[in-house]
Amino acid sequence: MTHIAMIDQINNLKSEIEALEASNIADVETLRIKYLSKKGTISVLFNDFRQLPPDQKREIGKPLNELKDFATEKINSLREALELADNVDDSIDLTRTPAVMPLGSRHPLSVVKNEIISIFSRLGFTIAEGPEVEDDWHVFSSLNFAADHPARDMQDTFFIKRNPEVLLRTHTSSVQSRVMEKTQPPIRIICPGRVYRNEAISARAHCFFHQVEALYVDKNVSFADLKQTLLYFAREMFGPETKIRLRPSYFPFTEPSAEMDISCNLCGGKGCSFCKHTGWVEILGCGMVDPNVLDACGIDSKVYSGYALGMGVERITNLKYQVKDLRMFSENDKRFLEEFRSAR
Ligand code: DAH
Repeated sequence: MTHIAMIDQINNLKSEIEALEASNIADVETLRIKYLSKKGTISVLFNDFRQLPPDQKREIGKPLNELKDFATEKINSLREALELADNVDDSIDLTRTPAVMPLGSRHPLSVVKNEIISIFSRLGFTIAEGPEVEDDWHVFSSLNFAADHPARDMQDTFFIKRNPEVLLRTHTSSVQSRVMEKTQPPIRIICPGRVYRNEAISARAHCFFHQVEALYVDKNVSFADLKQTLLYFAREMFGPETKIRLRPSYFPFTEPSAEMDISCNLCGGKGCSFCKHTGWVEILGCGMVDPNVLDACGIDSKVYSGYALGMGVERITNLKYQVKDLRMFSENDKRFLEEFRSAR
C-alpha cells in the first residue's frame, strides 16, 4: 500500500472508530478483535508501515500510533460504560435521602466532668489519676484520718476480701497523696474518678459515684488563692451572676476547712424548693492542705502550703440538669441518655 493510501485509511478508520457503538460486552470484544488483535485492521496497517522507506515512515508513524491509542481508549470506554450500567440495580432509588443513623450521646456525667476539667485546665491544672482499688495509706492514713475514724469502718467502706488494708477508694483525695509522694511542688492537679461507699441505694444515695478533686501546692499558697479559684469555677460553671459563700467545716486532711455554697441557680437566690428556700446550695468541700498531710507525703510543710477541694460530679450535674433520682445515672435508660444528645 502506498503511503498516500495509508493516510487515507488512517483517517477513514478514525471516523469509523469514533462512531462505534456496542450494546453488550460481547460486542465490545468483537470490536477489539476487529481493530486491535494481531490480525486486526490496525495491526495489519502496522505491518504495511514496516515496509515503507524511512522518509515515509516518519510521516506515517505519528498518525498511526495516535490511531492505535484512539482505538484502545474508545474500546475501553465502551467497556467501562457497559460495566457501570451492569452494576446499577434498578430496584434501588439512588436519589432517595438516606435513613438517619442514630448517633450516640455523651453521658451527662461525662459532659459535666469534661466541663469541670476544662475550667480548671484554663487555670493551669493538669489531670492526675489513681487506682480505684486502693490501700488504707492513700485513702485514709496519709490524709490524717484518725485510727478510729468512722470511714474506716465496714459500715462505710467496701473492703476487698475483708482485708482492712485493701479497699475501694471512698474519695479521689487518695490521688492527692499519690501525686505528692512522687512530685515536689509546684503541684497543680485535678483528679476526676469514680468512688465507692457502702450506702443503701436510693434516689439520693448510691454505692458508687464520681468526684473531681483539685490540689494546688507551692510556696505562699493562701486561702485567698483558694477563694479566687472557687469564685472563678462557680461563675464559669453556673454563670457570671453566681455568688459563693464559704461555711467553716471539718475534714481530716484540710485545716482550716470549708464547704462552699453557690447562690441557687434555679431561683437565682430568691428561695425555692430545690434550695429548701434558703437561696443557697452546697456544692463542694475545700480547705488548706493540713501540714500533717504534706509531711506524710514527703513535702516540707515549713516551705510549702497548698489548698485542696473536692466535689461530687452527680451533685453538679443535678444542679445543671435537675436530675431528681441518682439511680438514673447508672441505669442506662436510653430515653434518659438521649435527653443529653445536644450536650457536648
Ligand atoms: N474528700 C471529700 C469527700 O469525699 C471531699 C473534699 C473535701 C475534698 C475537702 C477536698 C477537700 O480536697 O479539701 O467528701
